[in-house]
Amino acid sequence: MRTIIEPFRIKSVEPIRMTTREERTTFLENAHYNLFALDSENVIIDLLTDSGTSSMSANQWASVMRGDESYAGSPSFDRFHKAVHHLMPFSHIIPTHQGRAAEKILFSIIGGPGKYILNNTHFDTTRANIEFTGAEAIDLVIPEGKIPDLEHPFKGNMDIARLEAFIKEKGAENIPLVMLTITNNSGGGQPVSMANIKDTKYICMKYDIPLFMDACRFAENAWFIKMREPEYANVSVEAIVQEIFSYADGCTMSAKKDALVNMGGWLAMNNPVWAEAARNLLILTEGFPTYGGLAGRDLEAIATGLEEVIDEDYLHYRISSTQYLARHLTEAGIPIVKPAGGHAVYIDARNMLSHITPLHYPGQALAVEMYLHAGIRACEIGTVMFGLQMDGTEKEAPMDLVRLAIPRRVYTQSHIDYVIEALTEINARKNELKGMKIVWQPKQLRHFSARFLPLNCECSQKENFIKAFQAETV
Ligand code: F0G
Repeated sequence: MRTIIEPFRIKSVEPIRMTTREERTTFLENAHYNLFALDSENVIIDLLTDSGTSSMSANQWASVMRGDESYAGSPSFDRFHKAVHHLMPFSHIIPTHQGRAAEKILFSIIGGPGKYILNNTHFDTTRANIEFTGAEAIDLVIPEGKIPDLEHPFKGNMDIARLEAFIKEKGAENIPLVMLTITNNSGGGQPVSMANIKDTKYICMKYDIPLFMDACRFAENAWFIKMREPEYANVSVEAIVQEIFSYADGCTMSAKKDALVNMGGWLAMNNPVWAEAARNLLILTEGFPTYGGLAGRDLEAIATGLEEVIDEDYLHYRISSTQYLARHLTEAGIPIVKPAGGHAVYIDARNMLSHITPLHYPGQALAVEMYLHAGIRACEIGTVMFGLQMDGTEKEAPMDLVRLAIPRRVYTQSHIDYVIEALTEINARKNELKGMKIVWQPKQLRHFSARFLPLNCECSQKENFIKAFQAETV
């Protein structure tokens, strides 16, 4: 059969509230054209993130009921530990409430001024946690990884020559660890090959530097290895995952992605000295080491999620559905980052809306129009997110993308068809779209709370905006 179906039936449903364009216009004005400020009830299809938005299975809900909430030594911790250790056999596995909590603990121990942490591409929270300690976060993805329309099977690969050159230049003693983000979210959800993981490990061993994985989407990365690296075609995903982690000395993990749960994470490692320091910090900020910021029921749901996420029928459907969206957008003439990532399709808004200059935020303009036209919420990853400099000036980001992140096991093919139709219609009249301007912004991480106005907005709208803003700020 050529038709790939969702490998599940739906036992419990959540209604979607349908809205009109007129209603959405009001919601958007009230949200100051910032999609993070919308009530999710007013969103028809929510593609803001794949993080914490998965549907749990009947078995996971059954696990939730089994959760043991003892403060210390809970059997739910044992189940969690066994499930993680089976795939990622590290000596120390420390649960945290989400990925960034694991990052915060890790970099508090090993970061600091004068240190460098190298990665294919740091995710924003990873970079922020490194920089918070005074250390520098360096991205060393292969050059192909930065060209949106270039096809390459493993665009998340580390640039091995630059990795070694950097270590030689700055000295291995100043590099407490090297990371690989699998898949490379900030680079378009692109995978890293097993060959590249091995090469990275070889360089790390040569200079005696530990290798850590940012493991959020490890199962999706393993599926790409099975599909695209011929020597792994007949190896099970489970064995591929185990091999990936056999080259690592530790990992940070957000269970909100490939553990198929709504909250959770962990920090794992082999180094006993770092692990002891990590547990001490964990007790300060997260909790006792057998629950670390999670309830027993959460640990149970993670354990079951880890069994389900390496199911090859699930992964086949998961990656095929992302590719389905990418293929149809390409056929409709919409420029996207190629090939499709594991968890998301990224539209090249700078290219699609070439009449809008980067400092008028083509990504934001497209995301806003997607909401107005069809109630679809997506995320700008471009000049709004990265353009504001430390000194308060603004500069265009390397790319202006809109990420359509697909929650796991949540939407069916007809939901995705709706997204394709909406974007096809917008693309047909793309020249009518106008840029945006920022009328208020915080000093950092402005994309979450900045307030915008369309460049062509009516005067009354501007006046209303200013009045509302003044009323709120007095
Ligand atoms: N690393 C990567 C590669 C991520 O994508 C994320 C989160 C984190 C770390 C942090 O994990 O959210 O559990 O603290 N990414 C989400 C996203 C937020 O939308 O891409 P967290």
